[in-house]
Amino acid sequence: MTPPTVNVLFVCLGNICRSPTAHGVFQALVDARNLGAAIGVDSAGTGAWHIGNPPDRRATFAARRRGYDLSPLRARQASAADFLAFDYILAMDRDNLRVLESMKPSTYAGELDLLLRYCGEPDLLDVPDPYYGGGDGFEHVLDLVEAAGAALLDRIVERHRL
Ligand code: 4NP
Repeated sequence: MTPPTVNVLFVCLGNICRSPTAHGVFQALVDARNLGAAIGVDSAGTGAWHIGNPPDRRATFAARRRGYDLSPLRARQASAADFLAFDYILAMDRDNLRVLESMKPSTYAGELDLLLRYCGEPDLLDVPDPYYGGGDGFEHVLDLVEAAGAALLDRIVERHRL
């Protein structure tokens, strides 16, 4: 099988709440448009605490209520090799973007940015970390990544003529 044309990586801190949610939502958007062969999707964390773990139960339940299955996902840590494999590396907040900027090889020709840039609202930059908060934090994450994910997919389809 030929590898995907475009590879997209979502990155948060733990890779158990926000970025797996973005991963599952974006994969569903890609699949709904039959673009699974053209667009590869993955997620990672800048931190190492949760390597190998499934997403947080609260993220999995909230996503399931909207029809997304996060259960096969397992946390991994972002690494320099990701800059060779991914055309889009999208951080869930500015703290994680800063970490990724410090890892980025000078030769990286892809796009390293905040996911919420795709929302088109200049003041909306960070997907708030729901880990220590209440249940509705996970609904808010879903609202944000559904909106940004749809805009991101439109942009990729247009730019790469998919
Ligand atoms: P995430 O949330 O970055 O959205 O996966 C977090 C999960 C775990 C921790 C921090 C944030 N933690 O400190 O363990």
